[in-house]
Amino acid sequence: MAGHLQIDFNALKDAGARKGRGAGSGGGTLVALAGADLTLGAETRRILGSATDLVKRAAATAKFKGNAGQALDILAPAGLAYDRLLVIGTAKKDSAPDYLSLGGAIMGKLNGSLQTMVLFDLAETPADIGRAAADLMLGLRLRAYKFDIYKTKKSDDEKTKAKTKGSETSHIAIALTDPAGAKREAKHRDGLAQGITIARNLVNEPPNVLYPASFAQRAKELQKLGVNVDVLDEKALHKLGFRMLLGVGQGSDHESKVVIMRWNGAKSAKAKPLAFVGKGVCFDSGGISIKPAASMEDMKGDMAGAACVVGLMHALAARKAKVNVIGAIGLVENMPDGKAQRPGDIVTSLSGQTVEIINTDAEGRLVLGDVLWYVQDKYKPQFMVNLATLTGAILVALGTEHAGLFSNNDELAARLTEMGLATGEKLWRMPLGEAYDKLLESKFADMKHTGGRYAGSITAAQFLQRFVNNVPWAHLDIAGTGMSSPASDINQSWGSGWGVRLLDRLVSDHYEG
Ligand code: BES
Ligand code: MN
Ligand code: ZN
Repeated sequence: MAGHLQIDFNALKDAGARKGRGAGSGGGTLVALAGADLTLGAETRRILGSATDLVKRAAATAKFKGNAGQALDILAPAGLAYDRLLVIGTAKKDSAPDYLSLGGAIMGKLNGSLQTMVLFDLAETPADIGRAAADLMLGLRLRAYKFDIYKTKKSDDEKTKAKTKGSETSHIAIALTDPAGAKREAKHRDGLAQGITIARNLVNEPPNVLYPASFAQRAKELQKLGVNVDVLDEKALHKLGFRMLLGVGQGSDHESKVVIMRWNGAKSAKAKPLAFVGKGVCFDSGGISIKPAASMEDMKGDMAGAACVVGLMHALAARKAKVNVIGAIGLVENMPDGKAQRPGDIVTSLSGQTVEIINTDAEGRLVLGDVLWYVQDKYKPQFMVNLATLTGAILVALGTEHAGLFSNNDELAARLTEMGLATGEKLWRMPLGEAYDKLLESKFADMKHTGGRYAGSITAAQFLQRFVNNVPWAHLDIAGTGMSSPASDINQSWGSGWGVRLLDRLVSDHYEG
């Protein structure tokens, strides 16, 4: 359904216009929202008319109380010109309804219904109804996402859908008191939905299709939105001195790339930019320190950090964010080969610091170290936030519920944590400190690049910190959230697009003005 989903906002007072008798006379699905103890909005009651009674009886039978997560599905509702009446619960125990999840939940129940009218009307009107409705719209879109371009056999469901209406376009109308406000807010959400879709697609694509050069090509598409995109190839990277990054890719037949995306939306071109940096290991076999076979296919998603940065840049440019932003991604493939990097090798990083390679499967930090150094040196950003599927250890520590947050700056860390709670893309701050940093001491070089079995996520972060040159910085370890995380109301995709909403919100709430 993704891509063939049209969503409009209409005036609630017009929504009742469609009168009719009995099932089948109008077709389509009517969605009504219910609050605690089955409270319905006044307009909803008016539009349901005599069917209000039907809802009450059905609710009693189904023990439907209007709580979030509950739904009442009434087929062929008498007295309504719809084939189906879907009543969705919105009440939450300790908080206001979450309209994003609600939109997702509605889309989950619709399963392929082509014509739908959502009555966005509650007994308790949300403070900013336009915003709430736009969130609902985003939730609908995110839930509708599908990655099925490699499936040649469509399910029976999809076949009937295509046959019955001659096209697969689903049309959803959201009726509310402030359609103009919703439209305004939805503009911003459209770019966000596209950005998240881009990020999910990049993570889901197989590694024979998505390798550094083809990934860079996709990032180039941001040029259509006015983003400046520069691709540094291996020749350029050699010249600049990205030896630590190049070492990771030297066992692969695919050329490594670094992509720099620049969005200049601030009034002054000279305003210090924000910088977002992503790990883009298009496939991580582990290299010479090769990974076990089990689940190695998941390592096509080891570029989720870079995917998030591209999705974020899309979202920011699409809404013409009034801020200067740098997006930088290091794209490599980590493979074992006669030319591959060995444990014991010593490389000189872009920063000049020398690094003894210990385990070639700890490749992400090598890629990021050079990109972080380059970005702070060249662009003097206000801060750098990097995202990386960096360590399995963060999954051991935090599971799939929180991403790990490491930072040298309390204000930045606090803002990120706050935005995590606001968007549901939650962060948990982890410690950094000298004692951990010491674990990176090497007999032969300025440092070694892994710290041993204990505190694996922290020593990885300590390594990165050695390449940020004291610029305010945060590292988000998204190994547990960027891919293969549990499905939710708004995400059923393997690649979640995690972080796009979080960072878009960080930018809009704190750095635009
Ligand atoms: N890409 C992996 C981390 C990872 C693991 C991401 C599971 C997503 C799911 C990373 O490059 C890696 O292999 N890290 C090693 C580091 C170790 C060798 C110090 C790890 O976590 O085992
Ligand atoms: Mn690895
Ligand atoms: Zn990796």
